[in-house]
Amino acid sequence: MTWNISDKELGALLDQMTLEEKTTLVTGHGLWRTSANYRLNIPEILMTDGTYGVRYSIEQIDGPQDSDSQLASFLSVVNADLSRGVEGAFGSTRPATCFPNGSSFACSWDVGLAHELGEALADECQAFGVNILLGPGINIRRTPLAGRSYEYYSEDPILSGEIAAAVINGMQKNGVGASLKHFACNNSEVQRTTMSSVVEERALREIYLAGFERAIRKSNPWTVMSSYNRLNDVQAAENRWLLTDVLREEWGYDGVVVSDWHGIKDRAASMNAGNDLDMPESAARRQELLEAVKDGRVSAKALDRSCLRILKLIRTARNGLRTNITADFRKHHALSQRMAVESIVLLRNQAGLLPLDGTKLQRIAVVGAAAREPVIQGSGCATTRPTEVDIPLDEIRRLAPGATVTFNVVSDFAPDSAGEQAALTNIDAADVALFFGNTEVGYDGEGSDRTDLNLHDGQDELIDRLSRRNGRFAVILATPDAVAMPWVNQTAAVLAMFFGGQGAGRAVAEVLFGVHNPCGKLTVTFPVKLEDTPGFLTYPGENNRHIYSEGIHVGYRSYDKRKLAPQFPFGFGLSYTTFDYSNIEIDLHSIDEADTFTVSFDVTNTGKRAGKEIAQIYSRPHNPRLIRPLRELKGFVKFELQPGETKRVEVTIEARDLRYYDCDHRRWLLDAGKLTIEVAASSRDIRLERTIDVEAPALPSSILTVESQPATVLEQEFARKRFGAFLKEQLDLDDEETVKLLEYCGGSFLGIYNTVAWVAGDKISKDAMAAFLDSLNREMGRAIGKAA
Ligand code: BGC
Repeated sequence: MTWNISDKELGALLDQMTLEEKTTLVTGHGLWRTSANYRLNIPEILMTDGTYGVRYSIEQIDGPQDSDSQLASFLSVVNADLSRGVEGAFGSTRPATCFPNGSSFACSWDVGLAHELGEALADECQAFGVNILLGPGINIRRTPLAGRSYEYYSEDPILSGEIAAAVINGMQKNGVGASLKHFACNNSEVQRTTMSSVVEERALREIYLAGFERAIRKSNPWTVMSSYNRLNDVQAAENRWLLTDVLREEWGYDGVVVSDWHGIKDRAASMNAGNDLDMPESAARRQELLEAVKDGRVSAKALDRSCLRILKLIRTARNGLRTNITADFRKHHALSQRMAVESIVLLRNQAGLLPLDGTKLQRIAVVGAAAREPVIQGSGCATTRPTEVDIPLDEIRRLAPGATVTFNVVSDFAPDSAGEQAALTNIDAADVALFFGNTEVGYDGEGSDRTDLNLHDGQDELIDRLSRRNGRFAVILATPDAVAMPWVNQTAAVLAMFFGGQGAGRAVAEVLFGVHNPCGKLTVTFPVKLEDTPGFLTYPGENNRHIYSEGIHVGYRSYDKRKLAPQFPFGFGLSYTTFDYSNIEIDLHSIDEADTFTVSFDVTNTGKRAGKEIAQIYSRPHNPRLIRPLRELKGFVKFELQPGETKRVEVTIEARDLRYYDCDHRRWLLDAGKLTIEVAASSRDIRLERTIDVEAPALPSSILTVESQPATVLEQEFARKRFGAFLKEQLDLDDEETVKLLEYCGGSFLGIYNTVAWVAGDKISKDAMAAFLDSLNREMGRAIGKAA
């Protein structure tokens, strides 16, 4: 049933609602619905998880909506033990396509494909009658240990934001709303509902919020989900700075903020902060809100504002409903295979071991349970019951019909065990050995971080022993995020699939045998060891506070700055062909922050196979005013080239994306001066560069006060001149005396007032200098404003 109702009528409806009806409207009904109002004919809408597939729980959605059965059912999912298998944990869930998980699929760097994913998810939602899918999740993958990193895209906000926007647009253009989550800083599962992510403002804005801002600007998700954690000591769902000052006032977001499930602790505070909808239904919190409105702790206006937003959401959602849509699961399975093909990352390929030639190989030794029972997804609320699952072992056999394919599972992991001996016999005799490794199934996921970067249960030691026996040894990994690879130099090839979804089995076999050329690239840095990860010293926090000690230096930004060699860098991935880059041009030689410019360059496929390349654009500031990363991703493009083909590739960059946030000025700024734009095959493989000029006001490194060191006051020519004029007038100096005094001041480590007063005595008034510096600050601030 659609709901055609004008804005005016919505307003009239609101006027007719009692206080009780309003507090009911801003509280969910059961686990997955908004509350209908039968008296006023307000329909309900239905939402469900998740981030890479639709988890439609028959029990929870179609069953009784009483709170006891709902809570028990919810907890059983969130705490799901996937070692019992997806069917065991989610027996009463409707089959739906399990697409590659976020950390896998993001490696495609393919926004077109992200849009297709959104469309497919929307179709499945429409077929099930679901109005809002609770995804995508785009928290920054700050540590590879994070339990939910398998759902999230990247350690970089531009990449995360671009992919999220495409997924959301794909969904919403097809009538299904998104819930962009978890806002903000759910970067670990350790004590996830009480831990405070303590993050300095610059890091928040430049890293942790930037992807959200981008996705919101480019796709306007119908809802944003506040996260479970506290942010700078305030519960995210109750954080007014986050939900109102930044999200609504600065970014202009006008959709609905929905809480994470039972994420609200103080309903009145959450309403005042701007968290509109409380999910799921909680009679206790509804009552709390009712009382808070009655006694004036929450204003009627705030409640009305949230009601109106929710009414508008219900209208949009009801009008997006498409009847008679049947999800084409076969087509979606093919899409999941294609997405996996685009996302698999070839990390190592010594002496061209891959691709394998299925017609020539006689014996292939496949080892590892994951070849027969593929690890396709993580565990938690996003877990999807797949419609079908491709089995790598079967696919390998299909692609090498003439070969003997042996299969061993080494389950006891003891050296010299019978299982290992059997595997060794097969490996010794094989033309190639394929080891399918994985992290622990069902442990890493929602609710718990990993505790190390190892593969599950002795697999690292096993690879170490087995790979010594056959020089043609390839490892295929299914992991949520980065793992350590102490054995890597002994192997001939490594493929990272992450959790590749239900079509990954076929995709990986086809990549191994060269049906497809691998073309994914990493969206996070793979460290050599856990100790190398940024933030290692303060992870996972203590006493309920987790200090993000690395600040803005997240992921590659940190490795680059510390000159630390990663195992594999951000943006890295091999192909069966090679690419040359040449002829960089930038259409503007000088930019200001309102500009948009285009970087163009030639890329040639210099190998013998068709292949896809992902070119990345980084910016490198020359003399930054504030501490900056060495380089930062600003754009990317994926394209295909036939052997020998050259393409002119273009990437458009908005200069606003080159800015940094200055907490003193409370503004995004560009530095005047030189900036180098780099074209790269990875963050550690810069192929071309061009330096441009940036036009922006030249500012001192901080706001000026009477305590500022003279060097800071005199740092910029503009301020130096003004300050000289001020001294000249105050102290009645001639030009030469003024220059001398400025020179004398420059060498002092004392505050500027004390320095001047040392020679000028009481002829200089502190108040006058303070007033002058204030006006100078304002003058320079206006200059920034003008440039913006
Ligand atoms: C998760 C959310 C999810 C919600 C509903 C929470 O535990 O953090 O991501 O959408 O449950 O299942």
